[in-house]
Amino acid sequence: MTKLRAAITGVHGYVPDYVLTNAELETMVETTDEWITSRTGIKERRILKGNDKGTSVIAIESVKGLLEKTKTKPEEIDLIICATITPDMVFPATANVIGTEIGAINAFGYDLLAACSGFIYALTTGSKFIEAGIYKKIIIIGADKMSSIVDYTDRTTCIIFGDGGGAVLLEPTTEDVGIIDSIHRSDGIGLPFLHMKAGGSRKPASHETIDAGDHYVHQEGSAVFKFAVVNMADIVLKVMRLNNLQSSDIDWLVPHQANKRIIDATASRMGIVEDKVMMNIDRYGNTTAGTIPLLLWDYESKINKGDNLIIAAFGGGFTWGAVYTKWAYDSH
Ligand SMILES: CC(C)(COP(=O)(O)OP(=O)(O)OC[C@H]1O[C@@H](n2cnc3c(N)ncnc32)[C@H](O)[C@@H]1OP(=O)(O)O)[C@@H](O)C(=O)NCCC(=O)NCCS
Repeated sequence: MTKLRAAITGVHGYVPDYVLTNAELETMVETTDEWITSRTGIKERRILKGNDKGTSVIAIESVKGLLEKTKTKPEEIDLIICATITPDMVFPATANVIGTEIGAINAFGYDLLAACSGFIYALTTGSKFIEAGIYKKIIIIGADKMSSIVDYTDRTTCIIFGDGGGAVLLEPTTEDVGIIDSIHRSDGIGLPFLHMKAGGSRKPASHETIDAGDHYVHQEGSAVFKFAVVNMADIVLKVMRLNNLQSSDIDWLVPHQANKRIIDATASRMGIVEDKVMMNIDRYGNTTAGTIPLLLWDYESKINKGDNLIIAAFGGGFTWGAVYTKWAYDSH
């Protein structure tokens, strides 16, 4: 029997209109455009403004655009996986809200929580349903409204994060394209360095937790940086080794956009030049689960069918991983 692979057959993204520049951040906290640019590579990020607007707004806009461009009817969708750490509500799942809003009347959906690695975890999870022949059309979403959990008086975190996301369609293929391999890891050793202290069952919301600012992202940046810089590159090299890929075989590195210095270090250890590294951190900052689909959306017209992509991420938890995929279509 011919082996089925899961292939990304379309991508669409969404970023809110409001642009929060480094210049505006200079008026909010003690920082400078020069510091932010040189330490992170970020110039601006997007913010979703308006009451009652959650991550589903970003996801729904992405999926609507995706369905339109791939000429997919919502009733054809089997499964929706939404990777996010900023769900509209703790429950029900944001994937539920999205499914109903887009008219996916035959689908089921769930959220996946793996911080900045959420999208690639979801990509691997979805691809297994396709490889097993169970489902034919799966939507994988990575989206976050980070502004809902960022403290805009904390200069060490508010400069990094932004709102945005995107979605891809996964379908079966018997061609020599699609998702070929993936490796993932998680390790609770990272908990102290990147987490939200309250709002879960361990420490429910109270006046005290709000007064203490415990519902914001807590990050010890340099510890996260050190772990990310080593582990993201290590796992990328491992997936390359297991698939006999040399640097010259890689057409694109698609790295999570947390810090340009982490991305540069990963590319350098892989031995690939900057032209092969997808990058939009300057415009969007770190949108957590949103960075990878936003990159694929930005670069879609430049990717050729058959190109070898290594998608890599690192995030809170810690979580990390790498996915090797051969691009399945030309969109240009
Ligand atoms: C957050 C991050 C940009 C900070 O950069 P860094 O070079 O590690 O900086 P440090 O935290 O060591 O701080 C260095 C100095 O800059 C200061 N600083 C921190 N933020 C600043 C800002 N926005 N503007 C100006 N100075 C700042 C610190 O207070 C510190 O000052 P001190 O030396 O007087 O104590 C960096 O650690 C990082 O990107 N970490 C990884 C984050 C990440 O990947 N997160 C998401 C996981 S996916």
